[in-house]
Amino acid sequence: MPPSNYINFQRFLAAKKSVDDSSINRHVLHHLAKELANRSYPGQLQVVEVGAGIGTMLERLTGWQILPDVCYQAIDLDPANIKEARRLLPVWSSAMGLEMTETPDGGELFAKDGSRHIAVSFAAMDIYDWIAGQGENKTFDLLIAHAFMDLVDASRALTAMRSVVKKDGLLYLTANFDGITILEPPLDPALDRHILSLYHDSMDKRLVNGRLSGDSKTGRHLFSRLSEQGIGLLAAGSSDWVVFPAAGRYPGDEAYFLQYIISLIETTLKGHASLEAGSFRRWISERRSQIEQGKVVLIVHQLDFLGFVS
Ligand SMILES: C[S@@+](CC[C@H](N)C(=O)[O-])C[C@H]1O[C@@H](n2cnc3c(N)ncnc32)[C@H](O)[C@@H]1O
Repeated sequence: MPPSNYINFQRFLAAKKSVDDSSINRHVLHHLAKELANRSYPGQLQVVEVGAGIGTMLERLTGWQILPDVCYQAIDLDPANIKEARRLLPVWSSAMGLEMTETPDGGELFAKDGSRHIAVSFAAMDIYDWIAGQGENKTFDLLIAHAFMDLVDASRALTAMRSVVKKDGLLYLTANFDGITILEPPLDPALDRHILSLYHDSMDKRLVNGRLSGDSKTGRHLFSRLSEQGIGLLAAGSSDWVVFPAAGRYPGDEAYFLQYIISLIETTLKGHASLEAGSFRRWISERRSQIEQGKVVLIVHQLDFLGFVS
């Protein structure tokens, strides 16, 4: 198979923003906004986002006026994501009419308007290393993980993550995949089912540094994982991705988003023993043409949670 053109992760994350903007569960989001408004934070609200990608959650929560005065730390393993997040922050801040400044060493960026002061710092690190470096400090009022918990061992990650959150501090865990992917219209229903089922299986078998990392039913499993970690639940609800063309065209860069998902399936399952190579190649190519023609609808079941450290 020739290499796919749809493999730029930072562009995928940027394209994903409009999909996530629509899918984020509004009930859970409003509960977060209410909690933040009802609590008092001496100084600034201290937030950490793990697996922050290119910073779209910070952009969203700032744009939607969910965050008050805030000190926001964005952590991501991939330096290319952090580099892009730093490049984009002044771009979207200025579009929102925020005034930007930077510390002389470039370590921290500040955005402010008449009422809010947003201090942002970035770290390109593995979250476990970053958390280990925090020692016993329970510094954070709010921890955010968006489209992240399904990539890791949720129990291990929650143990680490809750260790940096203050007592009664909040965890906003969003876009947690929950085992259902639908592509419409069907091509070959049996092959569609087989490919998506193998793709889900691959999430359950993913190894990172020799450890199982990921779960295709993270959403539903988080109810018990949170409880096991002494994290009380304040709100939960679905945040399904629903990507569809309107009058034959996808909004924003969502056609790229869909093509990237097809690339993920392609690279994950290429050479799989239980897939006939020719049929799989044709399936990938037909799905790509359907996207080009504005014919594909993608539905992905996900769940959002707001919890607190008890
Ligand atoms: C699906 S992306 C989501 C990114 C971002 N939250 C968003 O939705 O746009 C998951 C992110 O988690 C990061 N990641 C995965 N494992 C990590 C780890 N152990 N430590 C830090 N970041 C990690 C990846 O580099 C990737 O950017």
